[in-house]
Amino acid sequence: MKRLEGRIALVTGAASGIGHATARLFAEEGAHVYLADVDGPGAETAAGELVAAGLAATPITADVSLGQDVTAMFRAVEIGHGRLDVLVNNAGLNVRADFRHLSDADWAKIREVNLDGVVRVARDGFALLSASGRGSLINVASIMAHRGLRQLTAYSATKGAVTALTRGLAVEYAPFGIRVNALCPGFVHTGLTARALKNPAIERALVDSTALRRLGQPEEVARVALFLASDEASYVTGAELAVDGGMSAAL
Ligand SMILES: NC(=O)c1ccc[n+]([C@@H]2O[C@H](COP(=O)([O-])OP(=O)(O)OC[C@H]3O[C@@H](n4cnc5c(N)ncnc54)[C@H](O)[C@@H]3O)[C@@H](O)[C@H]2O)c1
Repeated sequence: MKRLEGRIALVTGAASGIGHATARLFAEEGAHVYLADVDGPGAETAAGELVAAGLAATPITADVSLGQDVTAMFRAVEIGHGRLDVLVNNAGLNVRADFRHLSDADWAKIREVNLDGVVRVARDGFALLSASGRGSLINVASIMAHRGLRQLTAYSATKGAVTALTRGLAVEYAPFGIRVNALCPGFVHTGLTARALKNPAIERALVDSTALRRLGQPEEVARVALFLASDEASYVTGAELAVDGGMSAAL
């Protein structure tokens, strides 16, 4: 039995990395998946591959930092299915900068996607999630919500806010049958980390501080998102799940 049979899911930032792997796994588990991304051609390619494999997928071009895009994104789901069972708030980015040199423009860029976008999607997705009766909202935060690392301070601040948002929403949305949880990945091989990981010294340092002695793959985060999305997590809300190979457990 497929774990998301008949479910309707939407993943933001689904054109690559963790979002792409999550969208694919959800579709393989029987969901109709909306793949939303600011990279419209990327979303179309990713959805096209799923449809070619006989799975149910619809691409949406949407920048989560723009209110009108998010409105149009949920309007498309409303017209298509009238409800959302699973919503993955995954779109995110980072701009590496020493904090003392962080420009207003770079701070705005990080905040508008990682925090304002997550807030907007969580708020505007409420009506469709509550129409499900068994909704699951998954916010992709980061191990950096709880750790400090040079040039990631602004990013950390947005991710810490996402974990706080998750706890509040778990309480506010519970009466409407919606569970809300956060995923905290460690360091995962994706486009987001590719540039930093090209530096062997950085990769070695990160591997050395990970208990499992390797970085993660997007599919390993997707499998935990599947757990939170499914009925197997029916009593899990307001939780933060680390998917970090033991990095946050290590000294
Ligand atoms: N890769 C890691 O090590 C890691 C660790 C912890 C948390 N995360 C988080 O996981 C999430 C996914 O990151 P990833 O590593 O897969 O990165 P990625 O760069 O591979 O994918 C991010 C996707 O989000 C999309 N996106 C960016 N801005 C957007 C916007 N304004 N609107 C809609 N889509 C937008 C991009 O086009 C891209 O397809 C992010 O929230 C990131 O902060 C990643």
